Amino acid sequence: MSENFTTTQSGAPVASDAHSLTSGPDGITALHDRYLVEKLASFNRERVPERNPHAKGGGAFGELVITEDVSKYTRAAVFQPGATSETLLRFSSVAGEQGSPDTWRDVRGFALRFYTTEGNYDIVGNNTPVFFIRDGIKFPDFIHSQKRLGASGLRDADMQWDFWTHSPESAHQVTYLMGDRGLPTSWREMNGYGSHTYQWINAEGERFWVQYHFRSRQGVHNMSNEEAEKLAGSDADFYRRDLFDNIEAGNFPTWDVAVQIMPYEEGKTYRFNPFDITKTWSHKDYPLIPVGHFTLNRNPQNFFAEIEQAAFSPSNLVPGIDISPDKMLMARVFSYPDAQRNRIGTNYNQLPVNQPHAAKVNTYMHEGAMQYTFNAPEARVYAPNSFGGPEADAARAGEGSWETDGEMIRAAATLRSEDDDFGQAGTLYREVFTAESKERFHANLLGQCQGITIESIREGFFQYWTNVDANLGAILRDAYAAGVAGTTDGAAEMAGKA
Ligand code: HEM
Repeated sequence: MSENFTTTQSGAPVASDAHSLTSGPDGITALHDRYLVEKLASFNRERVPERNPHAKGGGAFGELVITEDVSKYTRAAVFQPGATSETLLRFSSVAGEQGSPDTWRDVRGFALRFYTTEGNYDIVGNNTPVFFIRDGIKFPDFIHSQKRLGASGLRDADMQWDFWTHSPESAHQVTYLMGDRGLPTSWREMNGYGSHTYQWINAEGERFWVQYHFRSRQGVHNMSNEEAEKLAGSDADFYRRDLFDNIEAGNFPTWDVAVQIMPYEEGKTYRFNPFDITKTWSHKDYPLIPVGHFTLNRNPQNFFAEIEQAAFSPSNLVPGIDISPDKMLMARVFSYPDAQRNRIGTNYNQLPVNQPHAAKVNTYMHEGAMQYTFNAPEARVYAPNSFGGPEADAARAGEGSWETDGEMIRAAATLRSEDDDFGQAGTLYREVFTAESKERFHANLLGQCQGITIESIREGFFQYWTNVDANLGAILRDAYAAGVAGTTDGAAEMAGKA
């Protein structure tokens, strides 16, 4: 006889998987059927809130290997020559809900965790090096504009473009989003970026500003609107499936890690604010410095436990790495742990996927709902104590602190010669997009414009793109007018003007 019994959650074998306890075969159900009650109650609690942004995603584990020597810039153990760290990477889209199609046009999340010997280090970035806004106070408004209308529950082009055109700092990111990179062929075939400026600190206490680049060895490939729309209907989980199947088949994706490094003092004088996430740093001024690579080689064993409950945060930093005076980053270090206490629960950091694997937790914080890990029985949970409890690392006091550098704070808050909203967006359009990608960009923008129903928002749309590039604005205006007049299908006309 099989010993593989179905059990209750407390481990006792149950009498039946198919029949409740009833008064006779067709009788009424007994409330004291403990297994029935437990099963229904568990089912009713299966869902936790989805992430507010970035709800739909997928991820895998792997390894980071440091092949170069960047120790003169950071003392972080994770980046020392030869170091290897277990890695988790979760990809996502931003606006769609959990069941939404992977191939809706959107920015893609690129959230990395390195389980380092000094604690978990998370870099929670995207597949674009910039972002839509530069102040965290606008983030809820931005996300609301991309989600759904209160009354109809529908996504809405008027709402999206209303927000963007009234937030000119979004132009650089919207140019990326409406360009080819808005529709990657897979998560494997896109780059990742830390996007923000972070800080590195070396063993001598010297400081540097740093930007992360993760370049796909699979290459960067994108799909057309038509392919994406088809896939959205035929396979909503296209990216998730692609990642899982490739890793299952032993086709492990790899990204090269490189950084741009700016000496600390240059943060005060660079021609634009280097802490502004709507800008990229010139590669001529700050060339890419190779660091190493990471490879994803292990699928999760349980999607919910290891990917859904993963709690990434820009506040998960390690010695030798800190944040910069970027207003967005300051808002984010509050926002993520707060969201996760709500989404997963107080002790979310004790779940296996969130616990540090290579470092020990030694803390005076304890208890709360679902405590799972705990200090040694003899430990006292107050500091200071006479029982050999842990003591703070005084050598870290003030490490990475720019908060007391008045000149840096003033510099981060002062407009510089190239601190405009549209310049880098225009350069991306004119100098980086090829003739073919410009054609697709025009056609895509025309389609977006045709979705706008409110005249003033459409006028704002034309003005926004005119500010990016006067010729681009004129192309869009003409093509839209021609489309309305029925003299051309607009997009075809525009293709000729690319
Ligand atoms: C102040 C601005 C921002 C705020 C307040 C914010 C807030 C949030 C929140 C609350 C979550 C859900 C966290 C969770 O429940 O686990 C999230 C997820 C995420 N955010 Fe942000 N965010 C901001 C800006 C950004 C920026 C600039 C980037 C990229 C450069 C970014 C990338 C991500 C990614 C990749 C995720 C998904 C992480 C995962 O895979 O679990 N966010 N954000």
